[in-house]
Amino acid sequence: MERIKTLEWTEDGLLLVDQRKLPTELNMILLTTLDEVYNAIKTLAVRGAPAIGVAGAYGVVIASSEAIKEGGDYWRALEVKLEYLKNCRPTAVNLVWAVNRMTKVISENRSLSPQEVNDLLLKEAKKIELEDKEMCKRIGENGERLIPDGASVLTHCNAGALATAGIGTALAPIYKAVEKGKKVRVYADETRPLLQGARITVWELMEAGVETTLICDNMSASLMSKGKIDLVIVGADRVARNGDVANKIGTYNLAVLSRYHMVPFYVACPLSTVDPNIASGDEIPIEERDPVEITECMGRRVAPYGSKVFNPAFDITPNRLVDVIITDKGVHTKPYEKSLPI
Ligand code: MRU
Repeated sequence: MERIKTLEWTEDGLLLVDQRKLPTELNMILLTTLDEVYNAIKTLAVRGAPAIGVAGAYGVVIASSEAIKEGGDYWRALEVKLEYLKNCRPTAVNLVWAVNRMTKVISENRSLSPQEVNDLLLKEAKKIELEDKEMCKRIGENGERLIPDGASVLTHCNAGALATAGIGTALAPIYKAVEKGKKVRVYADETRPLLQGARITVWELMEAGVETTLICDNMSASLMSKGKIDLVIVGADRVARNGDVANKIGTYNLAVLSRYHMVPFYVACPLSTVDPNIASGDEIPIEERDPVEITECMGRRVAPYGSKVFNPAFDITPNRLVDVIITDKGVHTKPYEKSLPI
């Protein structure tokens, strides 16, 4: 199956698909400064937890080159830049995870010259990208067994190739099932307010030739009640040690509906999305975004001026509603404190 290249390191900088423009335009943008990387992540030109992590790792390389060019105290300048990058989007653990991993390379090589450290950082970022690809493949293989031939699968937001450096997390088992010759139909929630489902998931699945039907977020209960959904698979931005899952706002609604209608509810993510420092979902920081994302839709005003708005980008699904967590290490069941190998 042909895969979209979400992001790629080039001699000139970080080249990535500008996901803000999908599905009407497939544009690549080249990021050469730390501010450009920061803005690309903040404004969702690159998005999805694993892709943010990989972009963040290359962002560290760009920050390091900038610190060299500035000619001051390389180590101090880099420290300040990485603190800035880490705080770009708070919910997905992958950004902090990737920047911390890059920071380890820096602190372990303080006896080397800045240019030598820069070379090592590029090597590490490429390794993170490769590992992400491999993790997606494994998630696909582990999750594929849970998708029966002829299944209708509901997904939310985009946890596909465009959210990773590989074939995705939630969509990976679907791609693997289709590759094996199973017939799979996907229902994709549009995912208000930023429509990652409509704009990105539907586009990506259509490109891959997977049968896909777009629905509004408020249609899933009705579909489930009619027996049209066999299982739900979503990705995750951060998973607590107890298996509580932070993912795109609306995921919790789906989990509640799934339980009521006795539809299996699965989460797929790399093991690195499980945050060993977080005991439960209550501790996961939830990003709140600009109200304009709700008062406008695709650049058009849809609410009265002056409306009060609440715009959390993610919600927490309690572990008791999650039937299994599929990772690159296997398929984990409750109690997650025991089954997640962290
Ligand atoms: O705000 P976004 O588009 O970055 O949110 C993305 C999601 O919530 C995904 O489901 C999650 O990051 C998993 S991606 C493999």
